[in-house]
Amino acid sequence: MKIFSREELNEYSLSLTFDDISLVPREVSRIKSRTEANTQARFLGRQLALPVTSSPMDTVTGIEMAKVLDELGCLGILNRFDSSLDKILSGGEEAKGVHAVSIGINTPDQIVEKLASLGMIICIDTANANNTKVLEKCEEIKNKYDVKVIVGNIANGSTLEDLENAGADAVRIGIGGGSVCTTSIQTGIGIGQVSSILDVYFAKKEKGLKIELIADGGIKNPGDIAKALALGADVVMLGRMLAGTFEAPGEIIKYNDQLWKKYRGSASFGVKMKNEFIEGEETMIPYKGHVVNVINAISDGLRSAMSYMNSFTLEELKSKNSFAVLSNSSFLERLPKK
Ligand code: IMP
Repeated sequence: MKIFSREELNEYSLSLTFDDISLVPREVSRIKSRTEANTQARFLGRQLALPVTSSPMDTVTGIEMAKVLDELGCLGILNRFDSSLDKILSGGEEAKGVHAVSIGINTPDQIVEKLASLGMIICIDTANANNTKVLEKCEEIKNKYDVKVIVGNIANGSTLEDLENAGADAVRIGIGGGSVCTTSIQTGIGIGQVSSILDVYFAKKEKGLKIELIADGGIKNPGDIAKALALGADVVMLGRMLAGTFEAPGEIIKYNDQLWKKYRGSASFGVKMKNEFIEGEETMIPYKGHVVNVINAISDGLRSAMSYMNSFTLEELKSKNSFAVLSNSSFLERLPKK
């Protein structure tokens, strides 16, 4: 079997996603216990215990989610429709523990100014970062305020330099990969997440850019997070993995003797409430209990991956650079059987 480096994986003839690859340990590990693996990461000038951010979707990140993720050393990005936003803007208690807020292209400048004065990271939440309006908005904010700005999304690195020149500090990578995303079906746009992350990673490297990389969409389990980070992402962004928890906005619904919560795309009918172009699904997912359980499972899985890969730190994990491409039957063999 061929062991692929990141460079070789980037040259692979087909677009690849998380289930197509696996990490290949090739050393005797010095790590005696999982707890020795250090998952800390720096992202946009902040120290995170775990390189996890939450998607600014209205069924994922409300005030509760943002605050609990902050306590757990992750970064929650409040969705721009959240009812707590008014209180945050008035600088009340609500602002504590919320470090990042999403805005739209048409969000008025006084709101941006207020968020900047509170020291918030600003996420310009659009489906396509490669748009003059997005670049102009980013440039305008960066020229006026001393803030960190996240833009998104992109599927390859061809415009990365333009985004950095517009002042973007981080970019969300992923088009068509989100679990409630219908973009690829509606438009034919989008490539596998592994190929997207690699293309952007190498564009950054080749051009010597500083913009930080967020692997966004299609992440289903802790293993996918280990893969995304080993490929070169600085942090991951999660929608479905955090949805359905107690802290996610929305009611718990009992149906057919099972508890559920709603999860929907930002461009779904339920969010837009009108029949304009829809690019997202709405679904119910089984209730998961408190988000701390999800975060602990991610932390355990990532530490274990680092232990297999003989990596005390995430930097070391990135340096290992050995991957396999799985045949479909190899992938199926990896799944637990009933
Ligand atoms: P998930 O973690 O696989 O569920 O993906 C979450 C990501 O899907 C988000 O962070 C967005 O980048 C993307 N996304 C959210 N809503 C939509 C939508 O309505 N259409 C397309 N993509 C979406």
